[in-house]
Amino acid sequence: MTKPKHHVLLCASFRMNGMPQGVCAKGGAGQLAQRLQEDLADRGLADVAVSCTSCLGICDRGPALVVYPENWWFGHIDSEEAVDAVIDSIEAGSPAPEYLVT
Ligand code: FES
Repeated sequence: MTKPKHHVLLCASFRMNGMPQGVCAKGGAGQLAQRLQEDLADRGLADVAVSCTSCLGICDRGPALVVYPENWWFGHIDSEEAVDAVIDSIEAGSPAPEYLVT
């Protein structure tokens, strides 16, 4: 196994009891993970991993994710345009400001 160059940590709203609740799950985080993986593959970005996490603590901006090692926090990733903006950010090496959580 080779380590990914980038790691997308996508909030799946899991709480300590294991139940998926909260803004990100209700906002389609499950489908978002699949969409991200498919679009990354379509663009040939095999060095980007996607993992689902528990709550990131920015629920009011969900669905939310973080890109490492850049430490870019993105919110309101709830559309095709938003997913494209995240992947564009990774490719360009510069975060899309319209979704960036500062
Ligand atoms: S539920 Fe996603 S950040 Fe809290």
